[in-house]
Amino acid sequence: MEIWFDSCDRNAIRAACRFGLISGVTTNPKLMAETHEDPEKILSTLLEIQDGPVAVQVTSEQSEKIVEEALSLHTFSDRILVKIPVTRQGLVAMKQLVEQEVSILATAIFHPNQALLAALVKADYIAPYVGRMQDAGLDAFAGLKSMVAIYRQYGFKTKILAAGLRTAEQIQMCAEIGIGAVTLKNSLFEEWTADSPDTLDSLREFALAWESKEHLPFTLM
Ligand code: E4P
Repeated sequence: MEIWFDSCDRNAIRAACRFGLISGVTTNPKLMAETHEDPEKILSTLLEIQDGPVAVQVTSEQSEKIVEEALSLHTFSDRILVKIPVTRQGLVAMKQLVEQEVSILATAIFHPNQALLAALVKADYIAPYVGRMQDAGLDAFAGLKSMVAIYRQYGFKTKILAAGLRTAEQIQMCAEIGIGAVTLKNSLFEEWTADSPDTLDSLREFALAWESKEHLPFTLM
């Protein structure tokens, strides 16, 4: 399972990369706007501080403009995975861009039919918005299971990158149903990687036993 980091915060990205778990960074226009920095500068930084792709969302809504914007992002760096919303205009743009070998993340997915459409136009990834699906009253995990089943049925190469997760349990549920990738906000990454109190309790017990014998840490050489 790939783990992506959903952030424009360079310090948080650097810290997360130390675990060696991060496959790439996802952004969206809101995350970029919140930095109050020049977008070109943010993109250069995100490309520089980690080795993976950076997913960047187009802001145009008409297919011709989406294609222009996507090509300009792709020319800026071929490590940019262009995020395009699954709308009718977006799908038309995706088809043209796939023919030009631009890597696409089909985004803002709520329904399995949108996942099917994105796979049919050969998007590299899709991003279903788990938390927002729940906010909209949808059964997000029933939707994700249906997407996994459809992709398996036809052997689609498109990867499912579950986005907008809100709990560590949801990461585990994604893993259980075979979701290919998840993207995590920093707060969730920290919650997910936090030390378990059960682990810490066991370690405390061992440390007490060790100290009572007045042993020192191992120095065998
Ligand atoms: C993912 O790539 C998007 O940036 C993200 O899912 C939107 O997340 P949110 O629903 O937590 O805002």
